[in-house]
Amino acid sequence: MSHSSIDTALPQAAQDLLELCGDRKFSTILADPPWQFQNRTGKVAPEHRRLSRYGTMNLAEIMSLPVEQVSADRAHLYLWVPNALLPEGIKVLEAWGFAYKSNLVWHKIRKDGGPDGRGVGFYFRNVTELVLFGVRGKDIRTLQPGRTQVNYLATRKREHSRKPDELYDIVESCSPGPFLELFARGPRKDWTVWGNQAEAYYPDWPTYSNHSQARHNTNAEAEQAEIFATTATTSAQ
Ligand SMILES: C[S@@+](CC[C@H](N)C(=O)[O-])C[C@H]1O[C@@H](n2cnc3c(N)ncnc32)[C@H](O)[C@@H]1O
Repeated sequence: MSHSSIDTALPQAAQDLLELCGDRKFSTILADPPWQFQNRTGKVAPEHRRLSRYGTMNLAEIMSLPVEQVSADRAHLYLWVPNALLPEGIKVLEAWGFAYKSNLVWHKIRKDGGPDGRGVGFYFRNVTELVLFGVRGKDIRTLQPGRTQVNYLATRKREHSRKPDELYDIVESCSPGPFLELFARGPRKDWTVWGNQAEAYYPDWPTYSNHSQARHNTNAEAEQAEIFATTATTSAQ
């Protein structure tokens, strides 16, 4: 689709996505939407003013993104969804033209391998997060490595909302390219990335010292960040 043929009545996010994709259709899409939580006054909400990490989109806005338009006829979708919003996750997956098939579980662990209970949770202390897996079209199983890939990964948490890089290895081995990441924070080799932090991103709030951009930190900054982390960091679940 050329720039001029994009419907300017569409929401800005939809226009941006269509403009980025042009005529390209993606066989695998990974998305980590900026979900809005019901309890928006609580610190768990990512857009909470005091923490102001990033803006969020409501369910209707997320559902209306033209993901189906940029998907190949036969495609895979990996969709991160907070535990509290599982029903909404299924709705989004279906609105984007996919059928739910399975999920992957991310277990957030400490350095010593135990569950990292530093997050929040209204009913339970969440140490896991889900990636919903959906497909579109016929005969679209995972690639051969998928048949032996377990639906579980255990890694250490990094900054707020940051997801494990290990998931990209799983996606790239189990699903066909071309790959599109929606709501990406930073570029990635062999991927087309979209999102308002897709080009440049650095956490500008106090967080764990092993955050995703930590190689830019001095040791002193990292130690400082770790100190802040013990008092100020929550997780959006
Ligand atoms: C949950 S975070 C993604 C985290 C990412 N997967 C990671 O591991 O770092 C959601 C992202 O969506 C972005 N975002 C929020 N509103 C947006 C919009 N209207 N259009 C595009 N991106 C948006 C946020 O700035 C944020 O980078």
